[in-house]
Amino acid sequence: MPGTTSAFTEIARSRRSPRHFLPTALSPSDIRGVLEDAQTAPSNSNTQPWSVHVVSGAARDALAKELLRAEEEGWTSPDFTDGYGDGLYLERSRALGASVYRTRGVERSDRDGRRAAVRENLEFYGAPHAAFLFMPALGDGVRTAGDIGMYAQNFLLSLAARGLAGIPQTVLGVYADTVREFLGVPAELKLLFGISFGMADPAAPVNTLRTERVPLQRSVVLHDTPGVLDRP
Ligand SMILES: Cc1cc2nc3c(=O)[nH]c(=O)nc-3n(C[C@H](O)[C@H](O)[C@H](O)COP(=O)(O)O)c2cc1C
Repeated sequence: MPGTTSAFTEIARSRRSPRHFLPTALSPSDIRGVLEDAQTAPSNSNTQPWSVHVVSGAARDALAKELLRAEEEGWTSPDFTDGYGDGLYLERSRALGASVYRTRGVERSDRDGRRAAVRENLEFYGAPHAAFLFMPALGDGVRTAGDIGMYAQNFLLSLAARGLAGIPQTVLGVYADTVREFLGVPAELKLLFGISFGMADPAAPVNTLRTERVPLQRSVVLHDTPGVLDRP
């Protein structure tokens, strides 16, 4: 029986990535509920390749300190390569960067301001909790990374459904060795990204940012599927 889409639509469309959180810790039952929801994610051949570490409290504070220290020392150790090429995706990424800096009141040319933004990433944007999403190195990693993405989106939507929020952060994955060493994770597990999570700070100017999406027509091609894209 077709179900109602309105609750899901509301949650999916209101989810956002906050860049400033309240320090209030979440309840164990909320964290457990989010982890249980995330665990239902589909994966290639039901391999469930995610290995997730959550830090809170003293562990969270100590890891943030280690990450800030690594940043000061210029010690980066990403497990995966980066880059958006030099076309459309670079443009979109620059547009996002410019919007984030604007809401923070920082010029893109301001090196100190940009560095401060990286360091706020490493302090989990003030969130009381962070989850680190590790994956085994299988083949070229692409299919496994897809599975981790499924898990992460479940995680984020579960937070949103509870009035909570999270932000996925590739920047946390740039310091993979630092994170692995701190958490006692073996080198075979690769760090795709982290998710800082908690309650978004409604008063933070940076959280007023609303990102846009290109129209469906730019992303979707329909074959023998009439009527879907008739209106803009
Ligand atoms: C895999 C992934 C990694 C991301 N890494 C970062 C990051 O390191 N730092 C950051 O501030 N935002 C990061 N983001 C957040 C994106 O910028 C954000 O999702 C995008 O701009 C769309 O905004 P919205 O999530 O509010 O809809 C990441 C998002 C994803 C999905």
